[in-house]
Amino acid sequence: MEMKTIKVGIMGMGTVGTGVMKIIEAQREYIYNKIGVNLEIKKVLVRDVTKERNIPVHPEVLTDNYEDITKDPEIKICIEVMGGVDTTKDMLLDAIENGKSIVTANKDLMAISGKEIFEKAYQAGVDVKFEASVAGGIPIIRPLKDCLAANRVSEIMGIINGTTNYILTNMTEKGSNFQDVLREAQDLGYAEADPTADIEGFDAARKIAILASIGFNTRVTLNDVHVEGITKITSQDIAYAKELGFVIKLLGIAKAEPGEVEARVHPVFIPKNHPLAAVNDAFNAIYVKGDAVGETMFYGPGAGEMPTASAIMGDVVEVAQNIKTETAGKRYNCTCFEKRRIKTIGEMEAQYYIRLTVKDQPGVLASIASVFGNQGVSIGSVVQKRRGEEMAEIVLITHGIKEQNVQDALQIIQGLSTVEVVSNVIRVEGGNN
Ligand code: NAP
Ligand code: HSE
Repeated sequence: MEMKTIKVGIMGMGTVGTGVMKIIEAQREYIYNKIGVNLEIKKVLVRDVTKERNIPVHPEVLTDNYEDITKDPEIKICIEVMGGVDTTKDMLLDAIENGKSIVTANKDLMAISGKEIFEKAYQAGVDVKFEASVAGGIPIIRPLKDCLAANRVSEIMGIINGTTNYILTNMTEKGSNFQDVLREAQDLGYAEADPTADIEGFDAARKIAILASIGFNTRVTLNDVHVEGITKITSQDIAYAKELGFVIKLLGIAKAEPGEVEARVHPVFIPKNHPLAAVNDAFNAIYVKGDAVGETMFYGPGAGEMPTASAIMGDVVEVAQNIKTETAGKRYNCTCFEKRRIKTIGEMEAQYYIRLTVKDQPGVLASIASVFGNQGVSIGSVVQKRRGEEMAEIVLITHGIKEQNVQDALQIIQGLSTVEVVSNVIRVEGGNN
């Protein structure tokens, strides 16, 4: 086989960057045997070149000047695993202008500036690959783009944030405290540099925006996604979920109908026998429904050093082959050729778990039921429990209804003198409607 050495520059040597370096070093010969390309790490960009690193790295390889990568004519592939949006975009555009193909794990950037980056890359004749940006080690972007290309995709739904799944699993199974288990997820390398992005749902929102754009061929950005995180989930909600036969998961949900799409991220009650209920810890799973293939499910490790590095390296191997065969940049990466309306959250339909703290008096439940009835909200089941001498907790699950009807009813219910507080509202998916 004709031998070729391709030099790469890596931006970032944290959790994912370290994994990428380990794989390149350990699998150099194996990759060479497969594709006839010898991958060589020429430069690694970090913030602090003096920091102690987890694996040995020659001091000459480390740099804190990104132009040592973007302007080096020998470097053909720029692997971006440092995160960040504006500065990182400038660095990547500089790399693209200087003829480098890009492999990135950066969903923040791709969910906001994907279109611009694809266009610049196409003009420059280089590749942009971003498999690691969604669901860590699970192949999902290439399957959606290529393997399912002939399908009209109508639904993409799944657990796409490892950190929150790890937290919810541990809160459910071990009764762990939210903050303690978040710290564990950070120590394990699952969380973003600022874990607010994970726990408030923005990381998952970026990922569902990317998946919806690819799956539905229409541009969906972060701003189009309705986002709620897991910080309002309490041990009471988890206990009620168990009692009622559900588990709580943070889901990314995107659905398409002719002319319109919806995209949302929020906690969900799912029946405990639902396939997604068994996806625990930092594992992710994505359900995709296409008109030809039917229902498919992609499952695997959704975060962490080696799974994410595995996804990066899959892209690096593809780009290296394209460079070797002189086909890099020949294919336009953006497939958003349609323009579909984005639905508002009020238009979306679901079932709801609603927990209310009320005065323990006769007629309270009837007055609440009457408000729901007047707003067209039908109630499927109710649980009522005493809370102390004078208070009670009412938990109800509605039948499927438009969000706006539920919000209108809750606004009235919140104003009733017998209702102390609407403690939580969580959507229910996969129930009996
Ligand atoms: P990390 O552990 O925080 O590492 C970030 C690395 O980038 C560090 O080496 C840091 O340098 C360097 N860096 C950051 N900003 C820089 C700048 N402005 N200039 C130069 N170097 C800079 O992050 P990570 O967890 O590996 O995540 C990296 C990317 O992968 C993010 O986009 C993340 O969303 C994505 N991702 C992560 C996972 C995961 O499981 N961790 C999974 C999928 C995707 P120093 O070492 O000197 O501080
Ligand atoms: N912080 C992300 C997560 C990393 O927890 O899923 C993988 O994208």
